[in-house]
Amino acid sequence: MTATGRRRPSAPSPAPPATFRRRRSLTVAALVAVLVALSGCTGDRPRSTAPVQGAAAQSTAPGPDPYFPEFGNVGYDVTSYDLAVTYDPASKELSGTVTITALATEPLREFSLDLIGLTVDEVTVDGAPAAVGRSGDKLVVTPVDELARGASFTTVVTYGGTPEPLNSPTLGSDGFHPTADGGFAIGEPRSASTWFPVNDHPRDKATYRFAITVPEGLVAVSNGVPEGRETDDGWTTWRWAEPVPMASYLAMVAMGEYRLHESEYRGLPMVVAVHEDLPTTVDAQLARSGEIADVLAGWFGPYPFRAYGGVALSDQRISYALEAQSRPIYGPAFFAGGQDASWVIAHELAHQWFGNSVSVREWDDIWLNEGFATYAEWLWSEYVGDDTAQELFDLYWTGPAASARFWAVPTGDPGRDNLFSHAVYERGAMVVHALRLTVGDEVFFRILRTWTAAKRDGNASTEEFIAHCEQVSGRLLGGFFEDWLYGTQRPPYPG
Ligand code: ARG
Ligand code: ZN
Repeated sequence: MTATGRRRPSAPSPAPPATFRRRRSLTVAALVAVLVALSGCTGDRPRSTAPVQGAAAQSTAPGPDPYFPEFGNVGYDVTSYDLAVTYDPASKELSGTVTITALATEPLREFSLDLIGLTVDEVTVDGAPAAVGRSGDKLVVTPVDELARGASFTTVVTYGGTPEPLNSPTLGSDGFHPTADGGFAIGEPRSASTWFPVNDHPRDKATYRFAITVPEGLVAVSNGVPEGRETDDGWTTWRWAEPVPMASYLAMVAMGEYRLHESEYRGLPMVVAVHEDLPTTVDAQLARSGEIADVLAGWFGPYPFRAYGGVALSDQRISYALEAQSRPIYGPAFFAGGQDASWVIAHELAHQWFGNSVSVREWDDIWLNEGFATYAEWLWSEYVGDDTAQELFDLYWTGPAASARFWAVPTGDPGRDNLFSHAVYERGAMVVHALRLTVGDEVFFRILRTWTAAKRDGNASTEEFIAHCEQVSGRLLGGFFEDWLYGTQRPPYPG
């Protein structure tokens, strides 16, 4: 079986999304655009109050996510996912088996998993058939015997169906997207549960193995280290492993007609996949991923993963990029017209430290990801000889940040509909620079490097970041962060 005809690039690509405006050419027009974008923002901080579904939800700590209480499950801690899926682009059907190894953190009579839209054929727990029920986007699994607190148990779910994207007006298009030649899965704050059963919250990080089977001739790329591929009877199985704990939203797959470049960078595998509908200049841009990660390592500490790379999609539905672990995915607009995409590569690679290695505890910690990744764009701009971080801070200060509206949404608690808003990205980067001006360069970069080292492979909250800054700097910074993260007015000029 071969894929259907290759699509041609069509109309000119849309401009990159507002959050990814190119800083190196930040002009008055761009600042006006920020203000225009801001007028769409409200100061609302809506919080969902939907109860967590599923029987395991009665547990005490950790509680439901303040923004997305319906995401994730409690009562267990996943150690690893071993996922085997077959995808047929002709029928758009996926069939899969996931083997989930987990530890019970309390005695479990039953437990739940997240799965959106697909159908379960069979579940076993420790080899014995288990009862399975469905409650909305939760699978509720009842093993034959209660699982004891501290027990390690293995759940195998066989499932399938036609996976589909999730569309949200504020968050964009996330999850599994079928394409003419294959399909891909990408998304934040949620994506994984559209293509496999998972504990879909970043607080439960785990290692992953992927075996992705597609029609012979198509490429299937996922996170981490390539572990070979084999072809049998017209189907090719591509194997990938992510040996470093990963948050579920960072799990990625891209299947279809891609140009694949496999090399090494600093002794680690480097894999770049570019959709065949994109020009080869994109391959050259993504080939810089290792070099750019190296520059970031000079500021943030050692690169935290076992592989490098990137994937460029041609699908216009994806207007953003996502920092998939060790192998970010980029929408096509970032490369439109042959423009330099190094700033967005620097942003996504900065997330490998800020977001991926050190992950949010809850989604209201999102500025710890986006504020720092946006600040990395500023550092990158300065590094390549464009505007310095200080110049960019001042451009915002005297531009969009001179308007009261800029401060209406607090960076430290933006609300679920503002997860990817200027309050988190640009105001978040301003918080980072304000911290730098307050504590000085030497302490600032020590804070960054000790933070990524102390929280490596784990989760961290804004409160923990504040405590860390106070500890490293030896200063009380509660008032500073109160103004900069939670205030709704412009604070005094820092420093
Ligand atoms: N974390 C991504 C980035 O800033 C943003 C993803 C935003 N959009 C989405 N629909 N999930 O690099
Ligand atoms: Zn980002």
